[in-house]
Amino acid sequence: MTFSPALEARFAKLLTIYPEGRQRSAVVPMLMYAQDEVGCVTRELVEEVARRCGVQPMQVDEVIGYYSMLHTRPLGKYHIQVCTNISCLLTGGEELYEHAKKTLGIGHKEVTPDGLFSLEEVECMGACSWAPAVEVNYDFHHEVTCEKLDRLIEDLRKLK
Ligand code: FES
Repeated sequence: MTFSPALEARFAKLLTIYPEGRQRSAVVPMLMYAQDEVGCVTRELVEEVARRCGVQPMQVDEVIGYYSMLHTRPLGKYHIQVCTNISCLLTGGEELYEHAKKTLGIGHKEVTPDGLFSLEEVECMGACSWAPAVEVNYDFHHEVTCEKLDRLIEDLRKLK
């Protein structure tokens, strides 16, 4: 499997930063970086990362099963994650998530037909002090209301 030169350089560096014999520690960051480039964690990618880290593909599958930020199906261009854990729940996170479902016309881990948005209900993102929190790709949005979310979605639609 071939990757961009930038990703190859990242992979090479990752394999040097862990102690000898601990290259399996690179599995998660490799998958995260590769997911951004490839679009999702494909079967081919699982096997490639396993080979590079000296583990069995099944061990990579186990990692994917544990970490919800790893996706085996392509996401939308803008992946909207709405937290519904306790701090966000108490400040309207669940209503926000329901509103997002209705506005986008999709459910948990689904993608809009145009491929622009995907939606995910997530666990705590560590932004509890600014609940309810939403993350779009790698950008955090704090104290989000339904109106703020609508504006955000409209702004993203304009960007395409
Ligand atoms: S509970 Fe939502 S960010 Fe922590």
